[in-house]
Amino acid sequence: MGDTSPWPRVKSEIYGLCGRNPKSNRLVPSIAELEPDHVVLDIGCGPGAAVRAAAGVVARAVGVDRSEAMITIARRRSRLFSNVEYFVAGAEDLPLPDAMFDRVWTIHAFHHWESPDQGIVECLRVIKPGGRLLIVESETKGSHGLDASMAAELAHRLRSAGFDDATVSKPHRQLVVTGMRAD
Ligand SMILES: C[S@@+](CC[C@H](N)C(=O)[O-])C[C@H]1O[C@@H](n2cnc3c(N)ncnc32)[C@H](O)[C@@H]1O
Repeated sequence: MGDTSPWPRVKSEIYGLCGRNPKSNRLVPSIAELEPDHVVLDIGCGPGAAVRAAAGVVARAVGVDRSEAMITIARRRSRLFSNVEYFVAGAEDLPLPDAMFDRVWTIHAFHHWESPDQGIVECLRVIKPGGRLLIVESETKGSHGLDASMAAELAHRLRSAGFDDATVSKPHRQLVVTGMRAD
């Protein structure tokens, strides 16, 4: 039987609400090589800081979070943006069309996903051919991020799922695992 404790979910909401990752939320839009015509998706967007950072650069920015409370806050904080949209949804079942996004990222949220493999399949589905996934986590040996060998293993999982060019980098002490959907 799976763990039915609500604590992991409550904990991830608390972390999101506290806005613990301001640096990563600025970092990702800056390393994602965004273009003005891009459509981007942030999975586990929390209060939406990275969505808003991207919205100033791209055509359209979408955030999803499984927490309704987070999405309510994200919508409130983004009310002045006309190119931003949010949905309550889990990474594992995105209510979004195939091949919609040029960039998909998830910041300090991947380690909370209930089914990482299903989430990766969903990311591949919604990314356009030639588009890119970025998974950003703190470098840690604990359960709240990845260590170097876990990141290498994740890059391998991305390749197995069908991503090309899966690599690990470490900008500004964050681990970024990225892969491209082949044309
Ligand atoms: C630590 S917070 C990070 C929030 C934001 N990305 C940031 O860096 O400020 C993790 C967020 O991921 C969300 N989350 C966890 N598992 C998820 C899943 N499977 N699908 C979508 N969102 C998820 C939580 O509700 C929470 O808002």
